[in-house]
Amino acid sequence: MRRDLRGWRVLLTGASQGIGEALAVELGRAGARLALTSRSPGKIASVAEAVNAVGGEAYPLVADLTCDEERRTALHAANDRLGGLDGIINNAGLGSWNHFADGTEEGFREMMDINFFAPAELMREGIPLLRLGRQPAILNIASRCGRCALPSWTEYSASKSALVGLTESLRAEYARFGIDVLLALPGKTATDFLKNCRLATGKAKLNFEEGMAPERVAKALLSSLIHNRRESWIGGDSYWMLMLQRFWPGLIRRKLAARVRELYQPAA
Ligand SMILES: NC(=O)c1ccc[n+]([C@@H]2O[C@H](COP(=O)([O-])OP(=O)(O)OC[C@H]3O[C@@H](n4cnc5c(N)ncnc54)[C@H](OP(=O)(O)O)[C@@H]3O)[C@@H](O)[C@H]2O)c1
Repeated sequence: MRRDLRGWRVLLTGASQGIGEALAVELGRAGARLALTSRSPGKIASVAEAVNAVGGEAYPLVADLTCDEERRTALHAANDRLGGLDGIINNAGLGSWNHFADGTEEGFREMMDINFFAPAELMREGIPLLRLGRQPAILNIASRCGRCALPSWTEYSASKSALVGLTESLRAEYARFGIDVLLALPGKTATDFLKNCRLATGKAKLNFEEGMAPERVAKALLSSLIHNRRESWIGGDSYWMLMLQRFWPGLIRRKLAARVRELYQPAA
């Protein structure tokens, strides 16, 4: 199946910066009609302008997706502005780079709220709208950490693994509505993701600036939608980590544990 994105009406979350911003522009170029969400009015308005400038059509919506009422209002506003809805792309997310022992329950719940419960409820509330759509689909942007949990990305990995599990069960459930449920697992991408993390007390040097350009990730996501790819591993780091996890899980477990011991050994 090939999805025709011309005139495709889609709600894209977390579009004010990073991967979401790049994806908004790519979708606009492909002729999609967009409702874009974020909590930042100025930033989301300027991304909508950038989409319009490349010949797309975008409406900015301001919403904190962890607030039930704001999320619901955004979903219905998207449906009203676009005259229906064909797709939902769950991209908004938050990281936390810390050992679990250094975190708090409140912080963990905040992460689960945006990375897991917000997309979950958008998908539940979106069913009646998407059922009426053309070639309807949901694309969930998780992370390689959703399939291969990493130390110091503990809470993040847990939230993305939960999203991966939900995506897989909904894929089978939503088949009866004719809605495709797709999953993307990007690797390290050069955005402000680390800067925006709730905590950043992990010890290893991460060098996010050396990650993939968000435009490259956006192109891969666009291709996933067009070709209706059930699961997309984006980036060499994601590919190799997930291959190792699949075929040599013991090796990756031992390597990660050894690295943690090395980083956290008490000073002599
Ligand atoms: N960067 C990476 O290396 C990487 C790798 C794999 C997967 N990912 C995933 O890709 C997605 C995008 O990441 P990114 O790197 O582009 O991150 P980013 O630059 O930090 O952007 C995060 C986006 O999420 C929005 N957001 C955060 N909390 C929100 C809330 N409560 N309500 C509404 N919107 C909220 C932010 O908008 P406002 O702050 O304006 O509200 C922003 O647009 C995330 O799900 C992330 O987990 C990233």
